[in-house]
Amino acid sequence: QVSIYAAGMLAGQIPAWTTDLASLERHAAEVLPPEALGYIVPSAGGGLTARANVAAFEQWRIVPRMLRDHATRDLSTEVLGTPMAAPLLLGPVGVQTLAHPDGELATARAAAALGLTYVHSTQAGHSIEQAAAANGDGQRWFQLYWPTHDELCESFLARARAAGYTTLVLTLDTTLLGWRPRDLDRGYLPFLANEGIANYTSDPVFNALLDKPAEEDPAGAGLAFAGVFPNPGLSWEQLPWLRERWDGPIVLKGLQHVDDARRAVDAGVQGVVVSNHGGRQVDGAVASLDVLPGIAEAVGDELTVLFDSGVRSGPDVLKALALGADAVLLGRPYLYGLALGGQEGVEHVLRCLLAELDLTMGNAGCSTPADLVPELLVRSPR
Ligand code: FNR
Repeated sequence: QVSIYAAGMLAGQIPAWTTDLASLERHAAEVLPPEALGYIVPSAGGGLTARANVAAFEQWRIVPRMLRDHATRDLSTEVLGTPMAAPLLLGPVGVQTLAHPDGELATARAAAALGLTYVHSTQAGHSIEQAAAANGDGQRWFQLYWPTHDELCESFLARARAAGYTTLVLTLDTTLLGWRPRDLDRGYLPFLANEGIANYTSDPVFNALLDKPAEEDPAGAGLAFAGVFPNPGLSWEQLPWLRERWDGPIVLKGLQHVDDARRAVDAGVQGVVVSNHGGRQVDGAVASLDVLPGIAEAVGDELTVLFDSGVRSGPDVLKALALGADAVLLGRPYLYGLALGGQEGVEHVLRCLLAELDLTMGNAGCSTPADLVPELLVRSPR
Protein backbone atom coordinates (compact mmCIF):
# COMPACT_ATOMS: atom_id res chain seq x y z
CA GLN A 1 0.00 0.00 0.00
CA VAL A 2 2.73 2.46 1.00
CA SER A 3 4.79 1.57 -2.07
CA ILE A 4 1.76 2.16 -4.33
CA TYR A 5 1.07 5.60 -2.81
CA ALA A 6 4.78 6.51 -2.93
CA ALA A 7 5.11 5.48 -6.61
CA GLY A 8 2.02 7.54 -7.44
CA MET A 9 2.92 10.65 -5.50
CA LEU A 10 6.69 10.71 -5.96
CA ALA A 11 7.19 9.14 -9.39
CA GLY A 12 3.81 9.70 -11.04
CA GLN A 13 3.37 5.93 -11.55
CA ILE A 14 0.04 4.31 -10.90
CA PRO A 15 -0.43 0.50 -10.73
CA ALA A 16 -0.62 -1.29 -14.09
CA TRP A 17 -3.77 -3.08 -12.98
CA THR A 18 -6.67 -2.30 -10.68
CA THR A 19 -6.31 -2.82 -6.94
CA ASP A 20 -10.08 -3.40 -6.74
CA LEU A 21 -10.05 -7.17 -6.90
CA ALA A 22 -13.81 -7.37 -7.35
CA SER A 23 -13.49 -5.66 -10.73
CA LEU A 24 -10.66 -7.90 -12.01
CA GLU A 25 -13.12 -10.10 -13.84
CA ARG A 26 -14.29 -7.17 -15.96
CA HIS A 27 -10.70 -6.17 -16.81
CA ALA A 28 -9.69 -9.75 -17.65
CA ALA A 29 -12.74 -10.08 -19.87
CA GLU A 30 -11.31 -7.30 -22.06
CA VAL A 31 -8.15 -9.29 -22.85
CA LEU A 32 -9.31 -12.91 -22.91
CA PRO A 33 -10.43 -14.63 -26.12
CA PRO A 34 -14.08 -15.82 -26.05
CA GLU A 35 -13.31 -19.54 -25.53
CA ALA A 36 -10.97 -18.78 -22.64
CA LEU A 37 -13.46 -16.37 -21.09
CA GLY A 38 -16.29 -18.88 -21.56
CA TYR A 39 -14.32 -21.59 -19.78
CA ILE A 40 -12.82 -19.59 -16.90
CA VAL A 41 -15.46 -17.11 -15.75
CA PRO A 42 -18.83 -18.88 -15.83
CA SER A 43 -20.05 -21.63 -13.60
CA ALA A 44 -22.55 -24.45 -13.87
CA GLY A 45 -26.14 -23.83 -14.97
CA GLY A 46 -27.47 -20.34 -14.39
CA GLY A 47 -24.76 -19.45 -11.90
CA LEU A 48 -26.93 -19.46 -8.77
CA THR A 49 -24.30 -21.13 -6.62
CA ALA A 50 -21.44 -19.03 -7.95
CA ARG A 51 -23.38 -15.88 -7.02
CA ALA A 52 -24.38 -17.34 -3.66
CA ASN A 53 -20.71 -18.09 -2.88
CA VAL A 54 -19.85 -14.41 -3.20
CA ALA A 55 -23.04 -13.14 -1.53
CA ALA A 56 -22.53 -15.41 1.49
CA PHE A 57 -19.61 -13.26 2.60
CA GLU A 58 -21.88 -10.20 2.75
CA GLN A 59 -24.02 -11.62 5.54
CA TRP A 60 -21.02 -11.61 7.89
CA ARG A 61 -19.73 -8.29 9.21
CA ILE A 62 -16.51 -7.68 11.08
CA VAL A 63 -16.65 -6.05 14.52
CA PRO A 64 -13.27 -4.27 14.82
CA ARG A 65 -11.58 -4.18 18.22
CA MET A 66 -9.53 -1.20 19.41
CA LEU A 67 -6.32 -0.53 21.37
CA ARG A 68 -4.96 -4.05 21.06
CA ASP A 69 -1.45 -3.13 19.75
CA HIS A 70 -1.30 -4.53 16.27
CA ALA A 71 1.98 -2.80 15.37
CA THR A 72 3.66 -6.14 14.68
CA ARG A 73 1.59 -8.36 12.46
CA ASP A 74 2.56 -11.78 11.18
CA LEU A 75 0.42 -13.65 8.66
CA SER A 76 2.70 -16.68 8.41
CA THR A 77 1.42 -20.11 9.29
CA GLU A 78 2.04 -23.81 8.76
CA VAL A 79 -0.51 -26.16 7.23
CA LEU A 80 0.11 -29.93 7.17
CA GLY A 81 3.83 -29.35 7.62
CA THR A 82 3.98 -26.80 4.79
CA PRO A 83 5.27 -23.37 5.82
CA MET A 84 3.25 -20.52 4.29
CA ALA A 85 3.85 -16.77 4.28
CA ALA A 86 0.10 -16.39 4.75
CA PRO A 87 -2.90 -18.74 5.11
CA LEU A 88 -3.56 -18.52 1.38
CA LEU A 89 -2.91 -21.11 -1.32
CA LEU A 90 -3.16 -20.83 -5.07
CA GLY A 91 -5.95 -23.35 -5.62
CA PRO A 92 -5.77 -26.02 -8.33
CA VAL A 93 -7.00 -24.52 -11.56
CA GLY A 94 -6.72 -26.44 -14.82
CA VAL A 95 -5.83 -25.26 -18.30
CA GLN A 96 -4.16 -22.03 -17.21
CA THR A 97 -2.63 -21.76 -20.67
CA LEU A 98 -6.07 -20.50 -21.73
CA ALA A 99 -5.46 -17.38 -19.64
CA HIS A 100 -1.82 -16.83 -20.64
CA PRO A 101 0.76 -18.82 -22.64
CA ASP A 102 2.98 -19.15 -19.54
CA GLY A 103 0.02 -20.73 -17.71
CA GLU A 104 0.90 -22.79 -14.65
CA LEU A 105 4.59 -21.85 -14.95
CA ALA A 106 3.78 -18.21 -14.24
CA THR A 107 1.52 -19.17 -11.34
CA ALA A 108 4.06 -21.56 -9.83
CA ARG A 109 6.74 -18.85 -10.05
CA ALA A 110 4.47 -16.20 -8.51
CA ALA A 111 3.59 -18.52 -5.62
CA ALA A 112 7.26 -19.23 -4.90
CA ALA A 113 8.14 -15.53 -5.09
CA LEU A 114 5.58 -14.73 -2.39
CA GLY A 115 6.15 -17.78 -0.18
CA LEU A 116 2.66 -19.15 -0.90
CA THR A 117 1.78 -22.74 -1.77
CA TYR A 118 1.10 -23.67 -5.39
CA VAL A 119 -1.42 -26.46 -6.04
CA HIS A 120 -0.91 -28.16 -9.42
CA SER A 121 -4.05 -29.42 -11.15
CA THR A 122 -4.28 -32.84 -12.83
CA GLN A 123 -5.80 -30.89 -15.71
CA ALA A 124 -2.91 -28.49 -16.16
CA GLY A 125 -1.59 -26.98 -19.36
CA HIS A 126 1.96 -27.74 -18.20
CA SER A 127 3.24 -31.01 -16.79
CA ILE A 128 3.86 -31.94 -13.16
CA GLU A 129 7.61 -31.70 -13.76
CA GLN A 130 7.54 -28.40 -15.68
CA ALA A 131 5.49 -26.70 -12.97
CA ALA A 132 7.78 -28.11 -10.27
CA ALA A 133 10.85 -26.71 -12.06
CA ALA A 134 9.16 -23.29 -12.30
CA ASN A 135 8.19 -23.47 -8.62
CA GLY A 136 11.84 -24.23 -7.69
CA ASP A 137 12.32 -24.35 -3.95
CA GLY A 138 8.76 -23.09 -3.38
CA GLN A 139 6.07 -25.16 -1.67
CA ARG A 140 3.78 -27.25 -3.86
CA TRP A 141 0.89 -29.68 -3.50
CA PHE A 142 -0.62 -31.92 -6.18
CA GLN A 143 -4.35 -32.08 -6.94
CA LEU A 144 -5.62 -35.43 -8.19
CA TYR A 145 -8.59 -36.20 -10.38
CA TRP A 146 -8.63 -39.92 -9.78
CA PRO A 147 -8.57 -41.58 -13.22
CA THR A 148 -10.32 -44.88 -13.84
CA HIS A 149 -6.97 -46.36 -14.95
CA ASP A 150 -5.11 -47.59 -11.83
CA GLU A 151 -1.67 -47.69 -13.39
CA LEU A 152 -2.09 -44.12 -14.67
CA CYS A 153 -3.14 -43.03 -11.20
CA GLU A 154 -0.07 -44.67 -9.69
CA SER A 155 2.10 -42.99 -12.28
CA PHE A 156 0.67 -39.53 -11.44
CA LEU A 157 1.33 -40.13 -7.74
CA ALA A 158 4.90 -41.32 -8.32
CA ARG A 159 5.66 -38.39 -10.59
CA ALA A 160 4.22 -35.87 -8.14
CA ARG A 161 6.19 -37.37 -5.28
CA ALA A 162 9.42 -37.37 -7.31
CA ALA A 163 8.86 -33.74 -8.33
CA GLY A 164 8.58 -32.51 -4.75
CA TYR A 165 4.81 -32.15 -4.25
CA THR A 166 4.21 -32.79 -0.55
CA THR A 167 0.44 -33.00 -0.04
CA LEU A 168 -2.15 -34.75 -2.19
CA VAL A 169 -5.44 -32.91 -2.75
CA LEU A 170 -8.05 -35.37 -3.99
CA THR A 171 -10.94 -33.55 -5.68
CA LEU A 172 -14.23 -35.38 -5.13
CA ASP A 173 -16.80 -33.03 -6.64
CA THR A 174 -15.90 -33.52 -10.30
CA THR A 175 -16.23 -37.19 -11.13
CA LEU A 176 -18.44 -35.91 -13.96
CA LEU A 177 -18.11 -32.48 -15.52
CA GLY A 178 -20.94 -30.10 -14.49
CA TRP A 179 -23.49 -28.69 -16.95
CA ARG A 180 -21.79 -25.55 -18.25
CA PRO A 181 -23.96 -23.79 -20.84
CA ARG A 182 -21.35 -21.25 -21.91
CA ASP A 183 -19.02 -24.03 -23.10
CA LEU A 184 -21.85 -26.21 -24.37
CA ASP A 185 -23.30 -23.42 -26.51
CA ARG A 186 -19.90 -23.10 -28.16
CA GLY A 187 -19.38 -26.85 -28.33
CA TYR A 188 -16.03 -26.12 -26.69
CA LEU A 189 -14.12 -28.35 -24.30
CA PRO A 190 -10.41 -27.46 -23.99
CA PHE A 191 -9.28 -31.03 -23.28
CA LEU A 192 -10.49 -32.30 -26.65
CA ALA A 193 -8.32 -29.62 -28.27
CA ASN A 194 -5.37 -31.04 -26.34
CA GLU A 195 -5.39 -28.12 -23.91
CA GLY A 196 -5.07 -29.00 -20.24
CA ILE A 197 -3.93 -32.59 -20.65
CA ALA A 198 -0.18 -32.01 -20.35
CA ASN A 199 0.07 -34.28 -17.31
CA TYR A 200 -1.44 -37.07 -19.39
CA THR A 201 0.48 -36.60 -22.64
CA SER A 202 3.76 -36.45 -20.67
CA ASP A 203 2.93 -39.76 -19.02
CA PRO A 204 4.27 -43.07 -20.40
CA VAL A 205 1.27 -45.03 -19.09
CA PHE A 206 -1.19 -42.68 -20.84
CA ASN A 207 0.84 -42.58 -24.06
CA ALA A 208 0.79 -46.37 -24.19
CA LEU A 209 -3.02 -46.11 -24.51
CA LEU A 210 -2.75 -44.00 -27.70
CA ASP A 211 -2.67 -45.32 -31.26
CA LYS A 212 -0.62 -42.33 -32.41
CA PRO A 213 1.46 -39.75 -30.46
CA ALA A 214 -0.61 -36.83 -29.14
CA GLU A 215 1.24 -34.32 -31.40
CA GLU A 216 0.17 -36.29 -34.49
CA ASP A 217 -3.38 -36.95 -33.33
CA PRO A 218 -4.53 -34.39 -30.72
CA ALA A 219 -8.17 -35.46 -31.02
CA GLY A 220 -7.18 -39.07 -30.31
CA ALA A 221 -5.35 -37.97 -27.16
CA GLY A 222 -8.36 -35.90 -26.13
CA LEU A 223 -10.67 -38.86 -26.57
CA ALA A 224 -8.31 -41.15 -24.63
CA PHE A 225 -8.39 -38.56 -21.84
CA ALA A 226 -12.19 -38.54 -21.98
CA GLY A 227 -12.02 -42.31 -21.52
CA VAL A 228 -10.10 -42.22 -18.23
CA PHE A 229 -11.33 -38.96 -16.64
CA PRO A 230 -14.99 -39.50 -15.63
CA ASN A 231 -15.05 -41.61 -12.49
CA PRO A 232 -18.59 -41.58 -11.08
CA GLY A 233 -18.05 -44.99 -9.49
CA LEU A 234 -15.67 -43.55 -6.88
CA SER A 235 -16.63 -44.39 -3.32
CA TRP A 236 -15.27 -44.19 0.23
CA GLU A 237 -14.31 -47.86 -0.03
CA GLN A 238 -11.57 -46.99 -2.52
CA LEU A 239 -9.76 -44.48 -0.32
CA PRO A 240 -7.52 -47.08 1.40
CA TRP A 241 -6.09 -47.92 -2.05
CA LEU A 242 -4.96 -44.31 -2.40
CA ARG A 243 -3.85 -44.05 1.23
CA GLU A 244 -1.46 -46.97 0.63
CA ARG A 245 0.07 -45.27 -2.40
CA TRP A 246 0.69 -41.77 -1.01
CA ASP A 247 2.82 -41.45 2.09
CA GLY A 248 2.22 -37.71 2.69
CA PRO A 249 -0.87 -35.85 3.89
CA ILE A 250 -4.11 -36.31 1.91
CA VAL A 251 -6.76 -33.60 1.70
CA LEU A 252 -10.27 -34.23 0.31
CA LYS A 253 -11.51 -31.28 -1.76
CA GLY A 254 -15.13 -30.49 -2.48
CA LEU A 255 -16.90 -31.48 0.74
CA GLN A 256 -20.09 -29.61 1.71
CA HIS A 257 -21.84 -31.96 4.14
CA VAL A 258 -20.85 -32.37 7.75
CA ASP A 259 -21.36 -36.16 7.57
CA ASP A 260 -18.91 -36.37 4.66
CA ALA A 261 -16.40 -34.45 6.75
CA ARG A 262 -16.91 -36.95 9.59
CA ARG A 263 -16.33 -39.80 7.12
CA ALA A 264 -13.11 -38.09 6.09
CA VAL A 265 -11.92 -38.39 9.69
CA ASP A 266 -12.78 -42.11 9.66
CA ALA A 267 -10.99 -42.51 6.32
CA GLY A 268 -7.75 -41.42 7.95
CA VAL A 269 -7.05 -38.40 5.76
CA GLN A 270 -5.49 -35.26 7.19
CA GLY A 271 -7.68 -32.50 5.82
CA VAL A 272 -10.68 -31.32 3.82
CA VAL A 273 -11.34 -28.39 1.52
CA VAL A 274 -14.84 -27.06 2.05
CA SER A 275 -15.57 -26.13 -1.56
CA ASN A 276 -18.21 -26.31 -4.28
CA HIS A 277 -15.66 -25.82 -7.04
CA GLY A 278 -16.56 -22.16 -7.37
CA GLY A 279 -20.12 -23.12 -8.32
CA ARG A 280 -18.92 -24.94 -11.43
CA GLN A 281 -20.40 -28.35 -10.61
CA VAL A 282 -23.83 -28.44 -8.89
CA ASP A 283 -25.76 -25.29 -9.70
CA GLY A 284 -28.19 -24.64 -6.88
CA ALA A 285 -25.74 -26.09 -4.35
CA VAL A 286 -25.41 -24.34 -1.03
CA ALA A 287 -22.91 -21.46 -0.76
CA SER A 288 -19.59 -22.86 0.42
CA LEU A 289 -19.23 -20.31 3.25
CA ASP A 290 -22.65 -21.29 4.63
CA VAL A 291 -21.46 -24.81 5.44
CA LEU A 292 -17.97 -23.89 6.69
CA PRO A 293 -18.83 -23.16 10.36
CA GLY A 294 -20.67 -26.47 10.83
CA ILE A 295 -17.89 -28.52 9.28
CA ALA A 296 -15.17 -26.65 11.17
CA GLU A 297 -17.04 -27.23 14.42
CA ALA A 298 -17.55 -30.94 13.70
CA VAL A 299 -14.05 -31.91 12.56
CA GLY A 300 -11.81 -28.88 13.13
CA ASP A 301 -10.07 -30.51 16.10
CA GLU A 302 -9.21 -33.61 14.09
CA LEU A 303 -8.63 -32.37 10.56
CA THR A 304 -7.09 -29.41 8.81
CA VAL A 305 -10.03 -27.46 7.38
CA LEU A 306 -9.38 -25.48 4.23
CA PHE A 307 -11.91 -23.38 2.35
CA ASP A 308 -12.59 -22.05 -1.13
CA SER A 309 -15.30 -20.69 -3.45
CA GLY A 310 -16.16 -17.01 -3.59
CA VAL A 311 -13.10 -15.42 -1.95
CA ARG A 312 -12.64 -12.05 -3.62
CA SER A 313 -11.01 -9.75 -1.04
CA GLY A 314 -8.88 -9.48 2.09
CA PRO A 315 -11.95 -9.20 4.34
CA ASP A 316 -13.32 -12.38 2.70
CA VAL A 317 -10.15 -14.25 3.69
CA LEU A 318 -10.47 -12.87 7.23
CA LYS A 319 -14.09 -14.03 7.46
CA ALA A 320 -13.34 -17.57 6.24
CA LEU A 321 -10.49 -17.89 8.72
CA ALA A 322 -12.64 -16.52 11.53
CA LEU A 323 -15.36 -19.05 10.68
CA GLY A 324 -12.95 -21.94 11.14
CA ALA A 325 -10.74 -22.35 8.08
CA ASP A 326 -7.04 -22.95 8.69
CA ALA A 327 -6.26 -21.48 5.27
CA VAL A 328 -8.06 -20.39 2.13
CA LEU A 329 -7.61 -21.38 -1.52
CA LEU A 330 -7.98 -18.79 -4.23
CA GLY A 331 -9.45 -19.63 -7.63
CA ARG A 332 -10.59 -17.25 -10.36
CA PRO A 333 -9.05 -13.98 -9.05
CA TYR A 334 -5.47 -15.08 -9.65
CA LEU A 335 -6.47 -16.43 -13.07
CA TYR A 336 -7.64 -12.93 -13.94
CA GLY A 337 -4.25 -11.60 -12.84
CA LEU A 338 -2.60 -14.25 -15.01
CA ALA A 339 -4.69 -13.16 -17.99
CA LEU A 340 -3.78 -9.52 -17.45
CA GLY A 341 -0.05 -9.84 -16.87
CA GLY A 342 1.35 -13.37 -16.60
CA GLN A 343 3.49 -13.94 -13.50
CA GLU A 344 3.51 -10.22 -12.66
CA GLY A 345 -0.28 -10.11 -12.90
CA VAL A 346 -0.65 -13.08 -10.53
CA GLU A 347 1.78 -11.45 -8.10
CA HIS A 348 -0.15 -8.19 -8.30
CA VAL A 349 -3.41 -9.90 -7.34
CA LEU A 350 -1.79 -11.83 -4.50
CA ARG A 351 0.04 -8.78 -3.13
CA CYS A 352 -3.15 -6.72 -3.18
CA LEU A 353 -5.11 -9.48 -1.46
CA LEU A 354 -2.47 -10.01 1.22
CA ALA A 355 -2.04 -6.27 1.81
CA GLU A 356 -5.79 -5.85 2.16
CA LEU A 357 -5.93 -8.82 4.54
CA ASP A 358 -3.04 -7.44 6.60
CA LEU A 359 -4.57 -3.95 6.85
CA THR A 360 -8.04 -5.29 7.60
CA MET A 361 -6.66 -7.51 10.34
CA GLY A 362 -4.67 -4.65 11.85
CA ASN A 363 -7.56 -2.21 11.73
CA ALA A 364 -9.80 -4.86 13.30
CA GLY A 365 -7.30 -5.28 16.15
CA CYS A 366 -5.78 -8.60 15.03
CA SER A 367 -2.10 -9.43 14.61
CA THR A 368 -1.94 -13.10 13.59
CA PRO A 369 -4.23 -15.72 12.03
CA ALA A 370 -4.75 -17.13 15.54
CA ASP A 371 -6.57 -13.89 16.46
CA LEU A 372 -9.24 -14.59 13.83
CA VAL A 373 -12.01 -16.14 15.89
CA PRO A 374 -15.80 -16.36 15.31
CA GLU A 375 -16.42 -13.63 17.93
CA LEU A 376 -14.89 -11.16 15.47
CA LEU A 377 -17.97 -11.50 13.24
CA VAL A 378 -21.68 -10.85 13.49
CA ARG A 379 -24.36 -11.97 11.06
CA SER A 380 -26.19 -9.23 9.19
CA PRO A 381 -29.30 -9.70 7.08
CA ARG A 382 -28.44 -10.07 3.36
C1 FNR B 1 -11.19 -24.77 -11.28
N1 FNR B 1 -11.19 -25.58 -10.15
C2 FNR B 1 -10.49 -26.78 -10.17
N2 FNR B 1 -10.44 -27.55 -9.06
C3 FNR B 1 -9.72 -28.71 -9.05
O1 FNR B 1 -9.68 -29.38 -8.03
N3 FNR B 1 -9.04 -29.09 -10.18
C4 FNR B 1 -9.06 -28.37 -11.33
O2 FNR B 1 -8.45 -28.73 -12.33
C5 FNR B 1 -9.84 -27.18 -11.35
N4 FNR B 1 -9.92 -26.43 -12.48
C6 FNR B 1 -10.56 -25.22 -12.46
C7 FNR B 1 -10.57 -24.41 -13.60
C8 FNR B 1 -11.15 -23.15 -13.56
C9 FNR B 1 -11.10 -22.29 -14.79
C10 FNR B 1 -11.74 -22.69 -12.36
C11 FNR B 1 -12.32 -21.30 -12.28
C12 FNR B 1 -11.76 -23.49 -11.25
C13 FNR B 1 -11.85 -25.16 -8.90
C14 FNR B 1 -10.90 -24.36 -8.02
O3 FNR B 1 -9.88 -25.16 -7.47
C15 FNR B 1 -11.64 -23.73 -6.85
O4 FNR B 1 -12.35 -24.71 -6.15
C16 FNR B 1 -12.61 -22.62 -7.29
O5 FNR B 1 -12.09 -21.88 -8.36
C17 FNR B 1 -12.86 -21.71 -6.11
O6 FNR B 1 -13.81 -20.77 -6.42
P1 FNR B 1 -13.48 -19.26 -6.86
O7 FNR B 1 -12.35 -18.74 -5.99
O8 FNR B 1 -13.10 -19.32 -8.30
O9 FNR B 1 -14.77 -18.59 -6.63
